[in-house]
Amino acid sequence: MPEEIAMRVSSSSTDETRLVFRSVAGEDLPRLTRLDRLCFEPGIAYSQRDIRRFLSMPGAESVIAESAGELAGFAIGHPDPPDLARVVTLDVAPSFRRRGLGEKLLDGLLGRLAASGATRALLEVDVRNSGAIAFYRKQGFSESGRLPSYYGPGLDAFEMQREIVRPRA
Ligand SMILES: CC(C)(COP(=O)(O)OP(=O)(O)OC[C@H]1O[C@@H](n2cnc3c(N)ncnc32)[C@H](O)[C@@H]1OP(=O)(O)O)[C@@H](O)C(=O)NCCC(=O)NCCS
Repeated sequence: MPEEIAMRVSSSSTDETRLVFRSVAGEDLPRLTRLDRLCFEPGIAYSQRDIRRFLSMPGAESVIAESAGELAGFAIGHPDPPDLARVVTLDVAPSFRRRGLGEKLLDGLLGRLAASGATRALLEVDVRNSGAIAFYRKQGFSESGRLPSYYGPGLDAFEMQREIVRPRA
């Protein structure tokens, strides 16, 4: 069931835009791939085939946010039994950043994965991506390891983890 919330259009404005949240559908894939290429450099960005593969993993969950049909952001993850939730990617379009959308997408994704039993979230992030590392630290993640050449020769990743607190029923 799509969920709709209002968010401020810009930090200097009181105007609000309505964002609709729902799961990713097959027809979203070209737009998701374009946004991922905007967010990440070649070699790190996913292809449409990669995204389709992640979405078809057992128990995979996704959240997409749209504003008047425009893609504002999305998140994809999947369970890694017995207790892990792996965050595959989290992408917010540049014009929608720093307004709480990344947090909302991450919460939505982890909430869905927690509902199927995950109690810890785990992700990898480029060690050079200081904005995303700051974002994830703000969301309670901390570095649990460094993965040498994870994205290719000499391109290391931090592994980051946090507990998932399940909302009370
Ligand atoms: C990382 C990303 C998802 C954050 O999305 P966002 O919607 O801008 O994040 P939020 O508005 O929810 O940020 C919440 C808090 O995280 C921190 N934060 C977010 N982006 C930050 C940045 N670039 N630098 C420092 N802190 C940051 C801030 O504390 C922020 O609160 P504030 O705006 O009140 O200071 C977004 O910048 C993005 O899509 N980047 C490109 C793709 C990427 O790197 N994805 C993550 C790796 S998988």
